[in-house]
Amino acid sequence: MAILKIARMGHPVLLRVADPVPDPGAPEIRRLVADMLETMEDASGVGLAAPQVYQPLRLFVFRLPSGRITEDPDDVPAGNSVLINPTLELLGEERGLAWEGCLSIPGLRAAVPRANRIRYRGVDCDGNVIAREVSGLHARIIQHEYDHLDGILYTMRMTEFRHFGFTEELSRAATALGDPV
Ligand code: NI
Repeated sequence: MAILKIARMGHPVLLRVADPVPDPGAPEIRRLVADMLETMEDASGVGLAAPQVYQPLRLFVFRLPSGRITEDPDDVPAGNSVLINPTLELLGEERGLAWEGCLSIPGLRAAVPRANRIRYRGVDCDGNVIAREVSGLHARIIQHEYDHLDGILYTMRMTEFRHFGFTEELSRAATALGDPV
């Protein structure tokens, strides 16, 4: 396995619509997924999409530590996971605002509006279908990573530019600013 270089905002690979993965079980895809999981863990991230490692393919990895989920009973934890050729459906009109970061936009965080509840579907490398209806942080991570497959970064989803800044400063000012959730 290997730690991969992460593309940063400004690189065109982050702005294009990625291509479907023709064979999710192919050795090069399994290797890419293993490397992406290692890269995500190394960077202490909770999600990483293939375009972020210069591969314009419709797949991403994610994880959802049990300590970070919201109180919503449908916000389910997840260990190291992969989703290949996913589909995404936003459920209902409810939108929530919460902090997000991105490994391609290091050092910054912003409050981003997202659907509270979603349905998603995709396959893993063994062709198993993964289909879930989730809420909270789980739903937020999937929407963020899915956006990467369509060339969309969280900065393109922002509506509250007042809640945008360097992670270091935000954590220092956290008590004064309050959480936008
Ligand atoms: Ni990201």
